Amino acid sequence: MRLKAKARQFLNEYKLGHAIRAIRRLPAGEVPDRQTLIELVAGWSNDGFVARVDYLHEVARRAATTEGPILECGSGITTVLMGLVTKERHVKVYSLEHHPEWHQKVESVLKRNQLTNVHACLSPLRNYGEFDWYEPPLESLPNNFTLVVCDGPPGSTKGGRYGLLPVMGSRLPINSVILLDDTDRPEEQAIMKRWKTESGLQDEIVNGQSAAFGVLSRRGS
Ligand SMILES: C[S@@+](CC[C@H](N)C(=O)[O-])C[C@H]1O[C@@H](n2cnc3c(N)ncnc32)[C@H](O)[C@@H]1O
Repeated sequence: MRLKAKARQFLNEYKLGHAIRAIRRLPAGEVPDRQTLIELVAGWSNDGFVARVDYLHEVARRAATTEGPILECGSGITTVLMGLVTKERHVKVYSLEHHPEWHQKVESVLKRNQLTNVHACLSPLRNYGEFDWYEPPLESLPNNFTLVVCDGPPGSTKGGRYGLLPVMGSRLPINSVILLDDTDRPEEQAIMKRWKTESGLQDEIVNGQSAAFGVLSRRGS
């Protein structure tokens, strides 16, 4: 590796470690400030594939207060962030990831930081007829996720993120919430509309400075 690239890698690792330590020091239930999240993203250095700060802030805020287990679709820095803000409250995070090398990378960061409350589940994509989606380890997943953080599978997948509700909808109880990233894209807007029509979810699009995302919730009748 060239010297410049090595120096950049060293700096990113320093930033990531610094941000992780700052988040770890927060009292249970407290959410990292934007500056810490900016440092976390810079240290993760996965341009183009990482959630933007407004979405990360909402993910941290919801994860820090949700009561039940969390389901994540598409692993990354969001997985590490949720592991940090939920650890003291013993809330479990189950993160589905189809890409073996990416899964390994995320798992190694979780391990290095003793985030044992996070289960990184290697879940290949499979065909469900009309759409492709993860094949989750259903027998080892809870039945009552109170929060879903939906940032995968990648947009090139047949049906995109649509498969979440057909495959996992029965495990999302009343008052559970789905955070859907990237609702500035027509594909995610169409998925939101379809979920709303087919599953009667309440929905709202939040237009932050850096990100647009959907908040969908299952209400009682
Ligand atoms: C938008 S990313 C999810 C990122 C995660 N929620 C975060 O904020 O870090 C969705 C999927 O893209 C894939 N991915 C992540 N980084 C990638 C990269 N650098 N190149 C190609 N695919 C990537 C992974 O399979 C991941 O599950």
